[in-house]
Parts: sequence; C-alpha cells; structure tokens
Amino acid sequence: MSTFKSPFFSYRLQGPTTLEGQVSLSGSANAGLAAMCAALLTDQTVVLKNMPDVLDVKTLSELLSHFGAVVTKLEKNTLSICCNKITKTSAPAHLMSANRASFQVTGPLLARYQTVSTPPPGGDPIGGRPVDVHINSFAKLGAQIDQAGDVYTASASAGLQGTRIFMDYPSVSGTQNVLMAATLAKGDTTIVNAATEPEVIFLGNLLTQMGAVISGTGTQVIKIHGVEKLNGCEISLPSDRIEAGTFAIAAALTAGNVTIKNAPVEHLDSLFSKLIECGANLKINEKEITVSRDKALLPVNFQSLPYPGMPTDLQAPMATLLTQASGVSIVQERVFENRMLYVNELRKMGADIVIAGTSAIISGPVTLSGAKVTALDVRAGAAVLLAALSATGTSVITEIQHLDRKYDSLQSKFETLGAKMERS
Ligand code: UD1
Repeated sequence: MSTFKSPFFSYRLQGPTTLEGQVSLSGSANAGLAAMCAALLTDQTVVLKNMPDVLDVKTLSELLSHFGAVVTKLEKNTLSICCNKITKTSAPAHLMSANRASFQVTGPLLARYQTVSTPPPGGDPIGGRPVDVHINSFAKLGAQIDQAGDVYTASASAGLQGTRIFMDYPSVSGTQNVLMAATLAKGDTTIVNAATEPEVIFLGNLLTQMGAVISGTGTQVIKIHGVEKLNGCEISLPSDRIEAGTFAIAAALTAGNVTIKNAPVEHLDSLFSKLIECGANLKINEKEITVSRDKALLPVNFQSLPYPGMPTDLQAPMATLLTQASGVSIVQERVFENRMLYVNELRKMGADIVIAGTSAIISGPVTLSGAKVTALDVRAGAAVLLAALSATGTSVITEIQHLDRKYDSLQSKFETLGAKMERS
C-alpha cells in the first residue's frame, strides 16, 4: 500500500480576513506531474526544478518507483528521475487510483517498452472521467488494446506507428499522454483537436529538450516526428496558473490588496476579464499581478471551458466570489459533468445558490457565516477555504488532504497575507 496515505487533517479558520501583502507562487502541479511521466521515455536522468511540494507529486513518485525508476529529491523543489532500470510495466490499482495524472505513465511505458497494463486512474469525483481518448489514440498508433475487468493492457510488439489522430475531446492529459507516446513512434503523428492548455506547451518544451521533434503545441494541431531515443534534461517548471487564480480571487473576495509574484499573467486572460467585470482592480505587470478591491462586487456570468476559456479548476472559487456580488450571477460548468458538489458546502455557510443542470445560479450579496464544511475535492476545497476567509466567525474545513494534493504551502502563504488558520 501507499506510504503516502494522508491522515485526515482539518483547517480551523477565523474570519473575516482582509488579505494583504505579497505571495510567491509554486511551480505548476499539473505541469510537474506530466513532466515526471515524461522521464519514463528515457534511460537518462531528468531533473525537474521548481517542483511543487504536494501530495500528488509524492504519490506519483511512488508509482514511478514501483516501475523501477529512481526518484530523488535533490532539494525541496528539485526532483531527479532516472528510469534506466525499469522492471515493471503493470501498474497497481492503489497507486493508480490516487490521482488522475497517474494515467500519463501509460503513453511513455507503451512507447518505450511496447506494453503497459493498468486499471483506470483515480482523481476528484467530478464526473465519469473516462479514458477513451487516451485508449482510442493508442489503438490508432497501432497498439492492441485488451480489457480484462477494469484492467487495460495495451501492447505494440512491433512498436508504435505514427498516424493522424482526431481526438473526440481536447483532453488535457489525453493530449499529453499521446504526445509523449508519439515521440518514440515510427514516422509522423498528427494530433487534431489537441488540448491547447499551457501545461501541454510546457510538456512539448520539455520533450523537445529531450530530443523530440514537435511542432504546434498550444494550437489544436500538434505534429510529432518520431525519434529512436530521447535523452535526459534539466528544466524548471512554470508557475501554477490555478494557484495564481486562487489568490487573485481571494484578494478580490476579501476586498484586500495582494501582489502575486512570478505570475503566469499571459495565461490568465479569462480570469482577469471576469475579475475586472466584477469590479476588482488589477495591476498587471510582466511577471506579477496586484489584485485589490475598493467597491462593491458586481454579478457576472461565465462558463468554464477548455483553454483559453475560464479554467474549470477556478469555477468553484469564482462561485464563492460571486456570493458577495450584488445581484444574480450564472456559472455554467462545461468541462466536467459533476463539478458543483461544493455548492452544498457553501450553502452551509449561508450562500444562496440554486443548481440547474450544470449551472449554478448565485444570488448575492449574502453574509457568509463560519461553519463546519468539507473539502470534497481539490478545487471544492479552495472554494470553501475562500468562503471561510470572508465568513464571520470560525469555520472548520475537514478532509483537507484534497488541498494538499495540488496546493504547496497553502497555509503559510495565506497566513503571510493575514489569514488566521490552524491545521489539526
Ligand atoms: C486536467 C487537469 C485538471 C483540469 C482538467 C481540465 C491534470 C492532472 N489535471 O485533467 O486539473 O481540471 O485538465 O482543464 O492535468 N474526457 C473524456 N475522455 C477522455 C478524457 C477526458 O471524455 O479520455 C472528458 C472528461 O470526462 C472531461 C473532459 O474530457 O469531461 C476534460 O477532461 P481532461 O481534459 O482529460 O482533464 P484531465 O486531463 O483529466
């Protein structure tokens, strides 16, 4: 069993708080997880700098070690991964189920070892989360797919063969998985309807540094010319755009004044546009953003969409913000079918939200009051944390292991900005 079973900790917060000061972002958790899987493509060492110190990285390290990888923490935020002695290509259920990123080991293992066997991945309970895009693409690349119970085995004894692939949905991890597999396929691969998220661009940069031949990342058509072998490399992760968004929303919510350092400002247009529409003040420089607010919040409508639309990972924190806007806001979730579970938790704190299908109709402003609530998943956890910061009185947030999965040093960062919170 995993040695990283997270005990069920809680946060106790005393609100309301006006967040003020500066915060520095950690490296992107989602970019880092895909990068760790890319190390499986080579027998040389891959060094990842600016890695966030989060639970998902620990669990994925354990999965890579299971295959025979040597994962070494060189410093707090530097990870070295060497996959020159891979001994297994079948993944155990208890490590696969810890998160969604785990499934991205399949493309690299299949490409390099011609076989991989795995149960489905885990991840937040926010919808069905199928893996058909990944599996269908592997089949297009020439892999034979067998399913026994819930275990998929993909094999391609003669190696993968480059081809043209249309993805039914621009899945982020699907694009990353297939991109990695195609780097070692014979010939050329074209991925049509690829995800354009910044984490895909970063992975493309990493793979290029490893010797892959790739063009078009960041667009919906990615071209890969397969090579025989990839080499090691050293690369630094970009800042976490979802963490940046979480702090920006928190600053607007609490009518605070927060400067977010080393922010990936070029990847946050959709959020900035909605924060400005809400009445927040934004000062955006090349690498930092200051968010403040000195007037009442206005209601806004938005849909979560694939990049460059509003990230689904910021949908729940934005809903918390809109509980404080004067009027009715409508938020539609268009990426995952079941990502509104946090609404019940916000209602316990006084939020006036009605769910209609995949939309939330939010009426405000309401006075939020401290309550005992649960972090149902990573971003639902962020939504209730933000609500607790602006609520009157004491809130207790249980199951914060979900927040630990993707947010590095969350407590100390919020405390620096003035939050009163304890972990127990
Ligand atoms: C990644 C991020 C997650 C983010 C999401 C969308 C990681 C580890 N996680 O998740 O934080 O919320 O992108 O930006 O990077 N789908 C299918 N078939 C598939 C794959 C996906 O139908 O084979 C559907 C999903 O059910 C969902 C939609 O596509 O409705 C988006 O999923 P996807 O882009 O794959 O998200 P993840 O890569 O899992």
